This record gives sequence, C-alpha cells and structure tokens, in this order.
Amino acid sequence: MQNSAWKKSHGTSPILSMTPKKPQQWLQVVGHAGSFHVGEYGTLLKKFCKGEQECYLKLMEDPMRPFVPVYYGVVQRDEQDYNMMDNLLTSFNTPAIMDCKIGSRTYLEEELQLARERPQPRKDMYEKMVAVDPEAPTVQEHTQQAVLKTRYMQWRETLSSTTTLGFRIEGFKKPNEECHTNFKRTKSRQQVMEALSDFVESNTQTVWGYLRRLKQLRQVLESSEFFRTHEVVGSSLLFVHDHSGRTGVWMIDFGKTVALPPNLTVDHRTSWVEGNREDGYLWGLDNLIDILTDMLPLLKHGEGPPIPAQICE
Ligand SMILES: Nc1ncnc2c1ncn2[C@@H]1O[C@H](COP(=O)(O)OP(=O)(O)OP(=O)(O)O)[C@@H](O)[C@H]1O
Ligand SMILES: [Mg+2]
Repeated sequence: MQNSAWKKSHGTSPILSMTPKKPQQWLQVVGHAGSFHVGEYGTLLKKFCKGEQECYLKLMEDPMRPFVPVYYGVVQRDEQDYNMMDNLLTSFNTPAIMDCKIGSRTYLEEELQLARERPQPRKDMYEKMVAVDPEAPTVQEHTQQAVLKTRYMQWRETLSSTTTLGFRIEGFKKPNEECHTNFKRTKSRQQVMEALSDFVESNTQTVWGYLRRLKQLRQVLESSEFFRTHEVVGSSLLFVHDHSGRTGVWMIDFGKTVALPPNLTVDHRTSWVEGNREDGYLWGLDNLIDILTDMLPLLKHGEGPPIPAQICE
C-alpha cells in the first residue's frame, strides 16, 4: 500500500496520438506495492502478466470495454515489461477511491488443484492468520507454523463478506485521509453499509451515481461473451468520486481471470461446487446494488437521483 504515492511519469510512451490529460496523479489503494508506474498521457503501467494481457486484448473487443481501463499494449522500462492501460483517476479532482473485490471465491480452481498436488505451506500466511486470530490455525498448522495459500484465502473469505455477500471491501482512500484497509473482519451487511456510508460521506448523489453505473455494468455483463466464458476471480471494482459530483466504477485486476474450456460457460450466480468454475461475481454485484439501494433513505446529504451530466461514464 502506498498512501502518498503521487508519482511523476518517466520515459517516453509510444502513443503519440493520445491527448495529454493533466494532472498525472495516481495512488494505489491496495495490492502489491511496486507493481505500478504512472505513465504519460494519463496511462498507468502494471507489471506484465500474460493472463491479464490476454484478458485485456479480448475485453477491448467486448461490450465490457467501457467498464475496464482502455488497454494500450506492452511497454518496457528498466528491462521489465508492463501492461499499459488508462489511469482511471486522471479525470478526477482529488478523488475518493475504493477497491471492492467481487465474487464469492478468491482463488482459482487450478490453484486448489495445485495445492493438492504440490502443497507448499506458507509461514508468512500463517503469521498473518495468527495476527488476526490466534485460534484460527488447526493443531497441525500450529505445529508446522505454516498454512497453504488456498486455506489462508478460504479463511479470509469466511472472515470477511466474500462468502456471505459475494464481495468485500479491500480498502478505500478519502481525500486528506490515510488509506483505510482495516476491513478484514467487515462481514455483516450492517458493517458493510457503515463502511460504504463512510466512503461516500453519507452523500446520496454519490450513491445514485454509483448505482446507475453498477446497473449498467450488470446489464452489460449479462450479455457479454467474455464474461460468460471466463472464471473471474480476484477482480475488483474500483469506485472513484470527487467533490464535483463526478462518479465512476470500473473493473480492474484480471490477473486471475481465466478462459473456461470451450464446452463450459458460467452464469456467475450459481453456487460454486468444485468443477463448475462458478465465481459468484453477479451474485456479489446484485448484493452490492441491493445494499447501496437500501442505504439511500438512511443517508443525510442530498436527495433524489443526480443530474445525468454529473456522471462520468
Ligand atoms: N487502471 C487503474 N487506474 C487507477 N488505479 C488503478 C488502476 N489499476 C489499479 N489501480 C490501483 O491499484 C490497486 C491495485 O490494483 P490491482 O488489483 O490491479 O493490483 P494487484 O497488484 O494485482 O493487486 P492484488 O493482486 O493484490 O489484488 C487498486 O486498488 C487501485 O487503487
Ligand atoms: Mg487486486
């Protein structure tokens, strides 16, 4: 996590036809530190991942395109390859940003298979687990002082709202505040609502903006060929708003989104049983939309739906 990582761009971009957008500002809410660079012309460079590149190439041709950062290809810096995409913060003025991980499962079926075939107990994950709940590890895990990655992820899912609501808040950053990332135990509908109200600062206009965008996203996902044919795990929705009333939501992080075999499709709502590859993405999105809708009458500031011109799409 980089709380104040407003970075300057370095190097040159091959995209000469793009209009420069200012200011070149960026900050990271959650995720691996050191994976990103701010690029020129309102772009962001994320450490190269082949699977993610394959997804972005397909997404640029899918109806989902307006709901993901525009992808520009691979660039190299200091001998490291990066996927170059839009920096989604560029058109906002000192924005508030939230990362919500969507889906009822945060590990791929292939990771589960691998953990069974070649178990690699992790000491670092055991330590993270004990730090949150010393009672959580089994006797065997205590003896080994290590846990499998899939076991750690499953435990995190049940601790948070991933299992019960199909999404969890990973973190958010409001203007002039540090990043809030202490949501590992934010599990109940009530707790989630409180955290979301804090993020939107009880502003109904912001919630209306997010709801409108999320409903459009849901409609597009239900008709997308890409979505029907991929297991989408560990992907987040990035929520961004600022004081001008501008709101935006985009899908990010396709590092663990994998194509299904040709004869298989998923509906993203059916419960997961190993082998069916279901990820609960739309079930989580339904719950998130319901919760935001239920929040509206409880919030203090503003009334009624926003003026369409204020919405960033
Ligand atoms: N296109 C983007 N525009 C603006 N901010 C972004 C963009 N992509 C990612 N970020 C920021 O970086 C954070 C981490 O992104 P992402 O999840 O893609 O990285 P990661 O290293 O794969 O994380 P992890 O695997 O731990 O989930 C996001 O929470 C968000 O704050
Ligand atoms: Mg992520």
